Amino acid sequence: MDVLLTGGAGYIGSHTAVVLLEAGHRVVVLDDLSNASQESLRRVEEITGRSLTFVRGDMLDQALVERVLREHGIDAVIHFAGKKAVGESTRVPLDYYSVNVAGTLSLLRAMQATDVRTIVFSSSATVYGELAVAPYLEKMPRDAFNPYGRTKEHIEDILTDVGAADDRWRIALLRYFNPVGAHPSGRIGEDPQGIPNNLVPFIAQVAVGRREKLVVFGDDYDTPDGTCVRDYLHVMDLADGHVRAMDYLADHGGVHIWNLGTGRGHSVLEVLHSFEKAVGRPIPHEVGPRRPGDIAAFWADASQALTDLGWVATKSLDEMTADHWRWQQQNPDGFAA
Ligand code: WQD
Repeated sequence: MDVLLTGGAGYIGSHTAVVLLEAGHRVVVLDDLSNASQESLRRVEEITGRSLTFVRGDMLDQALVERVLREHGIDAVIHFAGKKAVGESTRVPLDYYSVNVAGTLSLLRAMQATDVRTIVFSSSATVYGELAVAPYLEKMPRDAFNPYGRTKEHIEDILTDVGAADDRWRIALLRYFNPVGAHPSGRIGEDPQGIPNNLVPFIAQVAVGRREKLVVFGDDYDTPDGTCVRDYLHVMDLADGHVRAMDYLADHGGVHIWNLGTGRGHSVLEVLHSFEKAVGRPIPHEVGPRRPGDIAAFWADASQALTDLGWVATKSLDEMTADHWRWQQQNPDGFAA
């Protein structure tokens, strides 16, 4: 199929591009490069030995999106583009609603205008909020408690309403847990701009000497070792989940929701120790105060994705940290070098 990846130069998008190209699909990437590097796409082509088409542009430019959909005969869209930092979203909510929600509306308008009605949407476990009890099930109520999570929840509602109004739409909502790791070649990986918000990229930057030490945000939670527990998922497993969801939509209309996680949690200290095994030496760290908004523990019930898609996470925490470290060690400054 001809597949459009919005935000496809980013972390999850570039890894999904690898899986799509290797499955024989043709890939078109639309990305404004506001939080990604075009170098990632050059390396996707290097890894796969196949070419892709890159269009630099903004999702809010509906005419451009329509042109891309038409000129490339797009069959399906995988929609990654969006702002994704929880903390930042509380400081500049309008930017998040504009890029994430208005950007998605522009994309959907363009899809409708060009009769493209298959979309896989990058949602997040953050929509479950603080009320859900782990393991999270897709049918549990949503209760996002930050602007970033609320944009994901609103977009899920928009897509659900679109699917209910017109049964020609084929829609998958994928709720990611905590993506980490990198393609085993070490040629592509997570390259956050500025100070990493997320745990594993921060640990990786300490290990490679870009940061002084990791601060563990609290060790007084009601968990086995006192540090927060999350469902970390290898980005290659996550990419595979996207392609399986897209393939499923080829035969199934309507709106479908899937959690993509391993179904088990790991604590901050377990992740740190796993990373230290990959690096082969201790990583400087200290315990600091809790981070506002953190929940003690959550992880996925991903059995629906296994039933419907035959999808299951295959890679262990040690494989995640080993692959993440290989990427960071080979690319100390990410794609900037
Ligand atoms: C994991 C744990 C931190 C950094 C967020 C978003 C979610 C998704 C994934 C987009 C927490 C602790 C972290 C550090 C630390 N993003 N930590 N020191 O918060 O589970 O989820 O990223 O979809 O939507 O909410 O991930 O990696 O930020 O934190 O101790 O320097 O690591 O307190 O317990 P989180 P995270």
